[in-house]
Amino acid sequence: MPDIVYLNGEFMPIEEARIPVLDRGFIFGDGVYEVIPVYSKHPFRMAEHLRRLQYSLDKIRIANPHDDAGWGGLINEIIRRNGGDDQSVYLQVTRGVAKRDHAFPKGIKPTVFLMSTPLATPAPALVESGVACVTAEDFRWFNCDIKSVSLLGNCLLRQLSADVGAAETILFRNGQLTEASASNVFVVRNGVLLAPPKDNLVLPGITYDVVLEIARAREFEVEVRAVSEAEVRGADEIWVTSATKEVLAVTSLDGKPVGDGKPGTLFRRMHALYQQFKQEHMRTPA
Ligand code: PDD
Repeated sequence: MPDIVYLNGEFMPIEEARIPVLDRGFIFGDGVYEVIPVYSKHPFRMAEHLRRLQYSLDKIRIANPHDDAGWGGLINEIIRRNGGDDQSVYLQVTRGVAKRDHAFPKGIKPTVFLMSTPLATPAPALVESGVACVTAEDFRWFNCDIKSVSLLGNCLLRQLSADVGAAETILFRNGQLTEASASNVFVVRNGVLLAPPKDNLVLPGITYDVVLEIARAREFEVEVRAVSEAEVRGADEIWVTSATKEVLAVTSLDGKPVGDGKPGTLFRRMHALYQQFKQEHMRTPA
């Protein structure tokens, strides 16, 4: 089946979608996006993704081009037209097209784009083995809470791990854990699950929230607080989370084993609970 995308009011094959070169998304990276996982054709946590989209739009002062019902209609239609059960819906809003000028132009219409690709959740072998990560200093800006399409910092940081065949780059700012280049990070020490708080230095992950919700419901010991680089380096377990990775164990960091070098006990529990949570969502989508 061809990839069908949505652009400014129309569904079309991806080959036919065209953006003017003066789109501010292209010229300035002036836009925001969301990635929504879809299980058995049900968008997962759609209300939360749309709330975060609204937050990002508010932060960069773009009026939301659709209400939640409008977005829901577009998301469900792109899922239907692309066909697969498990998909990853990408949506992007940019400020629109205008003569190049840093200041916001008046009276332009945002560009709205959606696409969907088959969702590739981690293979069972990867869940079993865990992944290798490297670390780097977080040199991004101070608005990492905005899900901005200006991702050059994230791309440069992600490439550091790609260069050595690792799955992610875990980031520290002034000796504190922030997140990874395209995921949030959790740490387990002495049976306690540690999570850096959601502030302007991290993306408020939807998967992060689900993991914390499950952890609290199942009475894991949880602490949401600043986590130091030393605590990460001496952790029993490290996890990375995102819409597409779900929850993955990090079993080596900068070439050294994390804990005993295998996915830990709490990870195994959380991974199973996360899968169960997804199943429940498919029966009663929220
Ligand atoms: N990235 N932090 C960063 C910097 C991210 O880019 C992402 C997700 C996350 C996790 O957020 P969530 O749980 O809502 O997916 C954290 C998406 C998947 C991407 O850019 O493809």
